Amino acid sequence: MNNNKAQVQWFRGAAPYIKAHRKKTFVILISDEFIGSDQFMGLIHDLALLNHLGIKLVILHGSRNRIDQHLAKQDITSEFNRNIRISDAESLPYIIQAINEVKTYLESHLSMGLPNTPMSGSEISLVSGNFVTGMPLGVIDGIDMQHSGKVRDIKHEAVNAMLEQNHVILLSNIGYSKTGEIFNLPAEELASEVAQALQADKLIFIQHTENQDDRADTLSTSECSALVSDPDTDNDYRNLLIQAVNAVNARVKRVHIIDQKIDGGLLLELFTRDGCGTMITNLFYEGIRAANIDDVGGILRLIQPLEENGILVERSREQLELEIDYFQVIEKDGMIIACVACIPDKSNQFAELACLAVHENYRKSGLGEQLLQMAEHLATGKNIPQIYSLTTRTTHWFIEHGFVETKDFSLPEHKQTSYNQQRRSKILLKQI
Ligand SMILES: CC(C)(COP(=O)(O)OP(=O)(O)OC[C@H]1O[C@@H](n2cnc3c(N)ncnc32)[C@H](O)[C@@H]1OP(=O)(O)O)[C@@H](O)C(=O)NCCC(=O)NCCS
Repeated sequence: MNNNKAQVQWFRGAAPYIKAHRKKTFVILISDEFIGSDQFMGLIHDLALLNHLGIKLVILHGSRNRIDQHLAKQDITSEFNRNIRISDAESLPYIIQAINEVKTYLESHLSMGLPNTPMSGSEISLVSGNFVTGMPLGVIDGIDMQHSGKVRDIKHEAVNAMLEQNHVILLSNIGYSKTGEIFNLPAEELASEVAQALQADKLIFIQHTENQDDRADTLSTSECSALVSDPDTDNDYRNLLIQAVNAVNARVKRVHIIDQKIDGGLLLELFTRDGCGTMITNLFYEGIRAANIDDVGGILRLIQPLEENGILVERSREQLELEIDYFQVIEKDGMIIACVACIPDKSNQFAELACLAVHENYRKSGLGEQLLQMAEHLATGKNIPQIYSLTTRTTHWFIEHGFVETKDFSLPEHKQTSYNQQRRSKILLKQI
């Protein structure tokens, strides 16, 4: 019985994410080390599920380990320059063989009907093609990198047309030049370039790197850059962070690094509030800044119509001035277009999320959600485990963002005296 309850709760908790991810484009890189491992079939199943939930998928694979194995069999030792393999003419046929082997294996598993699993009978329609144009890396430090290449162009319109028809795109770490040459491309860089070209909603790396358990849940690009410069950062992780920063700077909304060793890691990261990997995003910070005393007039202009309509509780200029340090604002062309206050309780057990407002001309583009994320981020930074909000008309928005309505919550003392009984506001609580 208890188990049933937990399942129902889990499913309800996943509902906002199912809705949010539908029709979004995710670019997912799977390391070849993982392909064929014990947990690989679980991932195939989960990818089929994402496809059935209406998520547009572009799947890429790396081939580094398989290439190593093929070259070792031929007694070929690769030369490296700046940590990049020099794909010379002698090794190229074996590199192509290795890449094709990984691709075929992945393709065959993505084509399975998944018998005896909950996704039994589901079929994925896969499309591959010459979507990636490569070019030579050229001569670096006086060394000709030969068939080691970089991305020149992604045929994003063709890829998008296929995604619109619910096909899943499968790409290998290979590119063809306009002159018909073949280039071995670094898979992480290719995945990032593809995500950028498609303006994907998410770029997801499923990999294992050293000390993955100790990684932060969320990083901004500046935090990533600090880790990139840190000599103690593992090289593989550094490489992922560089590509993540490139993607986020080019307006890919979120990058996720998920440990391939976690069974169901992709689902946990996408459909639970806490996730299980590291998310890299600037959405918390984009355009949001701490308010200062000069913003009081702009905030008042923004919230006044909402106060007049009874949507927000009235705040005097004096009160706003006293609380200004708790406010975050978004400014556009000199006008405050959105604001929120995150006011910690004395006990540091709760913070109130108050005065959340987005100017009506700027609604429905995610600003409300970003302000909420920022408020949560600030509360987490102070080790505050819960936030609450009082609202009369925005209950559903909060519920869709992980809050639950509660009658048991006893308001902090200062709030009890100021609580306006006539408004009969609902109390919404979120564990963060
Ligand atoms: C609530 C509010 C902050 C959301 O801002 P936003 O930037 O539009 O938010 P987002 O873009 O993140 O989310 C928009 C979604 O929320 C929905 N939404 C907006 N107000 C809602 C409400 N009162 N109840 C339920 N859903 C609501 C929108 O319909 C939209 O959903 P859709 O894209 O599926 O159509 C904004 O509508 C607002 O300023 N409202 C008036 C002030 C207010 O109610 N503040 C909260 C009380 S403290």
